[in-house]
Amino acid sequence: MCGIVGYVGPQPALEVVVNGLARLEYRGYDSAGIAVLSDGRLETEKRAGKLANLRAALDQAPRAADGIGIGHTRWATHGAPNDVNAHPHTDGDNRVAVIHNGIIENFAPLRLELEERGCKFTSETDTEVSAHLLSQELKAQGDTPDLAAAMRAVCRRLEGAFTLVAMSVDDPELVVAARRNSPLVVGRGEGENFLASDVAAFIAHTRDAIELGQDQVVELRRDSVTVTDYDGNPADVREFHVDWDASAAEKSGYDYFMLKEIVEQPQAVADTLLGRVGVDGTLTLDEMRLAPSELREIEKIVIIACGTSYHAGLIAKYAIEHWCRIPCEVEVASEFRYRDPILDRQTMVIAISQSGESMDTLMAVRYAREQRARVLAICNVNGSTIPRESDGVLYTHAGPEVGVAATKTFLTQLVACYLVGLYLAQVRSLKFGDEINAVIAQLANMPAQVERVLATVGPVRELAHSLADSGTVLFLGRHVGYPVALEGALKLKELAYMHAEAFAAGELKHGPIALIEEGLPVVVVVPSREGRGVIHDKIVSNIQEIRARGARTIVIAEEGDETVRPFADELIEIPAVPTLLQPLVATIPMQVFACELALAKGNDVDQPRNLAKSVTVE
Ligand code: F6R
Repeated sequence: MCGIVGYVGPQPALEVVVNGLARLEYRGYDSAGIAVLSDGRLETEKRAGKLANLRAALDQAPRAADGIGIGHTRWATHGAPNDVNAHPHTDGDNRVAVIHNGIIENFAPLRLELEERGCKFTSETDTEVSAHLLSQELKAQGDTPDLAAAMRAVCRRLEGAFTLVAMSVDDPELVVAARRNSPLVVGRGEGENFLASDVAAFIAHTRDAIELGQDQVVELRRDSVTVTDYDGNPADVREFHVDWDASAAEKSGYDYFMLKEIVEQPQAVADTLLGRVGVDGTLTLDEMRLAPSELREIEKIVIIACGTSYHAGLIAKYAIEHWCRIPCEVEVASEFRYRDPILDRQTMVIAISQSGESMDTLMAVRYAREQRARVLAICNVNGSTIPRESDGVLYTHAGPEVGVAATKTFLTQLVACYLVGLYLAQVRSLKFGDEINAVIAQLANMPAQVERVLATVGPVRELAHSLADSGTVLFLGRHVGYPVALEGALKLKELAYMHAEAFAAGELKHGPIALIEEGLPVVVVVPSREGRGVIHDKIVSNIQEIRARGARTIVIAEEGDETVRPFADELIEIPAVPTLLQPLVATIPMQVFACELALAKGNDVDQPRNLAKSVTVE
């Protein structure tokens, strides 16, 4: 939530910062703003709405920048998304400019204190207190102002979550940033340096990055990057090289990132399997940093996640319990730590988060570790907080996902969950050796199956356009098809702003069937026939029940399943794969359906209203 960019170097700072913001707009698009030094004077420009509004304002009043600048895209927390509340914020003397990602929880008493000392506030934001506090610190330092020392002093007073970035007229070659519970990475260039909430902001300039730790402050100059803790002691950092380039974060001819990211799914699935499945079916997941002896001690698994990642967790439960015979609970991360969950050293907590920054999940991870559970993160972003704070990590290799709605990261999360389940079964030498080996072979074949769905999904587009005027769409599924139905409904809500609801098909008769009326579109995910005939047959009966009551049935079923054809007003065929792996193919028509329906309604599918890609508030 909120994207931040900072730059010090020889290039035109304004251009570098605004182009960086364009790559971070997925993190928030309520407003955007920049601050640069121009002839030693601090100049800011900020506008409500998307980055295009800021660009237009900058075009109308062009300015030269001195090779130093900061920029921000906002997802509003405190204060309406208007020009005044947009970042950067400055102190009354226009000496210092600050941008912020997160929430300063004690901003109210700080604001009161500052107002009593004569500071005039112009915005409703929590951020503005940090600009005034920095200014006060700089004044207190007299003739030798030190922005980094001021930042450290301010951070020691702040409570909550923040990445703060500041620049000051006192030192025209310095950008200072600090982080606590919000993301911050540094990009190291030749004679120039960058900082941002995500490497995407500077990937066009450098792929060498530094991940900042908790409670650290960085001083960024053209030729140096200095990192300390809040007391000024040198701090340890982790350097890493980004393994994708700028082209991966471009639209590459697609109108929307989401369309491109849907198409990238076969590759994303293949990349997530790469190097992990041996020719003889042996799985290698060393990066999990959890020794086989530790994994053999596990007596219970708890999966915590939010939104789409939570749906991946629900699917993982079916697979893990079936393959490993370990009890597995799944819980939305925002509820987890508030209900006194029972955890111990024999509990493995799996935290699924594509961004690695969701605050709800991060807090649940911290809680689980305090309770001595072993925590494994499944994450798509190298350098993010959740993997760093977990005992082990399994990275998904989806590449950058810019569209706010999760698509390829969801499929790769499923792959990672399957790998964990199969690996646990292998290290625990379970009796199902043959079954496990067969599933591993089928999993290795899934990129091709995902590719096949994409090749045949065309008719879903027309179907979606024909439903653009519907008020509601219901989704039904059984077994792993139920979380797929939940995911289909979530996608439709967030992209098409439509009422959509998913039910376990067996629950329908316990109430929701009353919703069925003439012409109501109902999407039904039919399980594969292989090995699970009973569930399959039950859902065929459910389809008949709703059709008899007038529903327009949109049935997603495996190719050649003639049993559903008579009851399907629309039939969407997917490849026949084992039931537990079916979500990898059944989800794709749902993604295309929601995306096309949203486009038919004229919505921006990359930046749906009110949402952000990385949700760093609780
Ligand atoms: C939906 C979506 C969100 C995220 C959720 C968790 O398309 O993207 O529901 O899945 O905010 O985000 P991560 O996985 O980054 O923790």
